[in-house]
Amino acid sequence: MTETANDPLAGLSPNERALLERIPSLALRRLAAAGVRAKMRLQFTGWLQYLLPLGPAAALALLGSLALLVRLPRVATGLGLGAAALSVTVAFDILTVKLRLHPRERRPRPRESLDAFELMRARRSCRSFQTVLLDEVDRGALLASVRGHVEAPTLGPTAVRLEYICAPLTVWPTVNATEFLVAIAPVPYDRRSIIDVGRTLQKVVVDATRLGLGTCWIGPGADHGSLKAHLGERFDSARDQIICVCAVGYPSRFVPLMIRFFSRVMGDRRPLSELFFVDPDLQRPLDPDAQPFARFEAAFEACRWAPSSYNGQTTRAVVRCDAEGALAEVDFYAATTSRFYAPVALGIWCANWEIGCDALGIEGRFEGCPPPDGELVAPRHDVTWSVG
Ligand SMILES: Cc1cc2nc3c(=O)[nH]c(=O)nc-3n(C[C@H](O)[C@H](O)[C@H](O)COP(=O)(O)O)c2cc1C
Repeated sequence: MTETANDPLAGLSPNERALLERIPSLALRRLAAAGVRAKMRLQFTGWLQYLLPLGPAAALALLGSLALLVRLPRVATGLGLGAAALSVTVAFDILTVKLRLHPRERRPRPRESLDAFELMRARRSCRSFQTVLLDEVDRGALLASVRGHVEAPTLGPTAVRLEYICAPLTVWPTVNATEFLVAIAPVPYDRRSIIDVGRTLQKVVVDATRLGLGTCWIGPGADHGSLKAHLGERFDSARDQIICVCAVGYPSRFVPLMIRFFSRVMGDRRPLSELFFVDPDLQRPLDPDAQPFARFEAAFEACRWAPSSYNGQTTRAVVRCDAEGALAEVDFYAATTSRFYAPVALGIWCANWEIGCDALGIEGRFEGCPPPDGELVAPRHDVTWSVG
């Protein structure tokens, strides 16, 4: 994955490179790379989030004019009101969020009263942040959580890193984020380290949620060039690769319309019956109410509500029982051949499963499967958790 001046995929993220490298024709690959770069330029202007609703507003206005032409005044009024409402909302979003003209917001309270499962369920991607920085106490607690979790045993051969950056980076579509944790895995690529990124960062995310902070995982929406520039000497392309980042801060009440829409559309989850199975072919769904699974139901739910890139929900699990019929092992699978975001999502599941089992008082340990030999096939069994 080295970048050179003649590299048609120069400047793209590892995941985008991995996707585009599959295109056999060089000309088509160049074209696709140009398309991705154009989209990135547009989204990193920092205005697209606010201006996108103007497209539907213009369409409504046009339809309204047509309705007037064919003498349908009521329809024209309805369409015109719709266009006006969208335009007013865009103006409000620009004033309050982009130009930050709004009363000072209150700091969120820590969520000390929530148990581990409620915390994992309460975590949702925050895509609009207050413009104040974290206070020293909160930043100290966040960085202590980072230090604690990066030192934990890993599945991969080398530890992953979470580097803190304080800079108003433009990310997509999240707005007003100024504090970030950058997840860095070692070069060369090892799938288990990518899983470690998900597992480690998600534990920090859950701790941040307990502090009352908003978090947003950002993979495709991050500009790797500016991340590397801000990391400076903390990033060495010969030994490091950026996998994703996580924006952290105080959530804002003011959320642009397009982001509300995006978060709503990306908010649903598959039912448990499409995620947990009792056979290695992932055909027979697990019944969470049946014994011996009922005891683990809250942990299944915690995995279900884990975040994933574009809400792809790419992780599956096969639950196995021992001769006495007790739950003994859980095999975690990636449902797609993605080399980056599917293993990250699987690592996030592992973190939620681990936090859930800790809360239930059930001890267990993870073991990573050896890296794939040859071409990656899906579903891919990546990790096994065993009781004990
Ligand atoms: C690895 C990863 C990358 C992500 N990248 C982005 C991103 O670039 N921009 C964004 O707004 N959200 C991103 N997300 C957040 C997902 O869109 C979000 O988790 C999903 O839609 C589910 O919504 P929820 O987090 O509110 O439960 C990412 C999540 C993960 C795990």
